[in-house]
Order: sequence, then C-alpha cells, then structure tokens
Amino acid sequence: RMVKESTDLTTLEHQLKSRLGLKQIKIVPGDADTSPETKQILGKEAAIIFHEQIKDQSIVDVTGGSTMAMVANYMKPLERKRPLFIPARGGLGDLHEYQANSICVKMAQETNGDYRLLHVPDEMGPELKEKMLEQPGVKEIVSLMEKADVLIHGVGDALTMADRRKATEATKEKLKSSKAVGEAFGYYFDKNGNVIDRVDTIGISAELVKKIPSLITVAGGSSKKEAVAAFLRWIPSGWLIIDEAVARYLIEQL
Ligand code: F6P
Repeated sequence: RMVKESTDLTTLEHQLKSRLGLKQIKIVPGDADTSPETKQILGKEAAIIFHEQIKDQSIVDVTGGSTMAMVANYMKPLERKRPLFIPARGGLGDLHEYQANSICVKMAQETNGDYRLLHVPDEMGPELKEKMLEQPGVKEIVSLMEKADVLIHGVGDALTMADRRKATEATKEKLKSSKAVGEAFGYYFDKNGNVIDRVDTIGISAELVKKIPSLITVAGGSSKKEAVAAFLRWIPSGWLIIDEAVARYLIEQL
C-alpha cells in the first residue's frame, strides 16, 4: 500500500507540475492540519529545495508563520554561500516566533548566513508609512528586499490570518463580504486570485514578487487548500511544496 501511495503522489506531482507550469514540485503525504509529522516533512522538503536554489550571496526574502518556522528548523550550515535573509514584510501583529523577523534570524543562524530586521508596525496609514520609508535603516532594507533572488513564503487562510493579526472588525467584514479565501505576504485575495485587501505596512509588492527568479511557496493542511489554489491563480509560483491534502484539491480544481 505504501508503494502504491508513493507512486500515486509521484503521478500527482507530474500532473500538477505541467498544469501549473512549475519548475519543481514536492508533495508530502498526509494532511498538515492533523499530522505534525506531515508538517515537519513539509518543512524538511522545502529546506532541501531552498538549499538547491540559493547561490553565492543570495538575498532571500522570507515571510512569517509556523510553516516557515518549520522550514528554518531543517536548514543546514553552509560553508561558502552566505545568504542574506530579509523579512518580506514588516508588521508585528503575528506571534513573536512566527514573525518574519524572528524567522530570518533563525534561518541565518542555521545556515551561517546574515539577516536584517524590519521593525515597523502593521496598519500604519499612508503618512506614517511615507515617513518610515524615509528612514535610512528602513530604506536600506527595502532596497535589499527588492534585490532578492529568492523568496520563500507561506500561504494562509484569509480569516485565520485576519484573526491571528487581530485585524479590525471592519477589515474582517470586508474580507467576508468580498469572499477572501487566502493570504500571502500581507495581501488577501479571493478564489480567483483577485486582491481584496492589503495589510498597510512596508513589504514586498506583488509586482516585485512576480519578478523574483526563485519563488518558493510552502503550504500544507486542508484548511488552506482553497487559499493555495487561489494563490496560484494570482501568482504563478516556480517551486511548490505542499501536502497531499492540498495536492488532491488542486488537481480537482485546476
Ligand atoms: O504572517 C506571515 C505568513 O507567512 C502569512 O503570509 C501566511 O498566510 C501565514 O504566515 C502562514 O502561516 P502558517 O504557516 O502558520 O499557516
């Protein structure tokens, strides 16, 4: 049975790879929502792909979340290539250990790399944002963020993320009424991949994300299946690491 299941997933990988025009895909067995082991393997496989993608002195944009925290756990020390990790987005609304800042530190420690931090709040409003963008420290990080050759990121369910960030009732209402299903790097989007809202902080823009040479998307768990399908309608990822629960849904949808 195990053999059959793994061939089954390999077939699924081939099918999704060509339908989605991916460079590479890895599907791990199970459902990360209910299996801690599935989530661990997801992190491990994503770390392997990350190590294959980075070059000497890569600049790596990173988002937050428990999945990225898991990826960080499986990164390995590098001898020569010293990647520089930059948070893809400001915002301090997430739990400390899930913030992009914290994950950059962890990834840098694991790989012998470097990191920069971005200490700016969520929901700044246009005036404060403009002021912040004038600060030399912030400017430097934004320009590094824009030079990244790798972006490794998670995807979340829209309302779960809005709750986790303690979004206002007005924001949650907007997300519900416009049927937002997913969230990635601060953008909320509907099932067709249309952007509904964006967290008002400093961070990577969708236009820029589309130009990053190695875009690595990591997500698992049946609660995120719609979010991942929607994300891929919005932004064509190159490297996709998902679990079986998400993969089986994608093949039905696409
Ligand atoms: O908050 C950062 C973030 O990467 C979000 O963009 C994404 O929706 C979420 O984390 C995923 O979190 P988790 O991996 O815990 O499901």
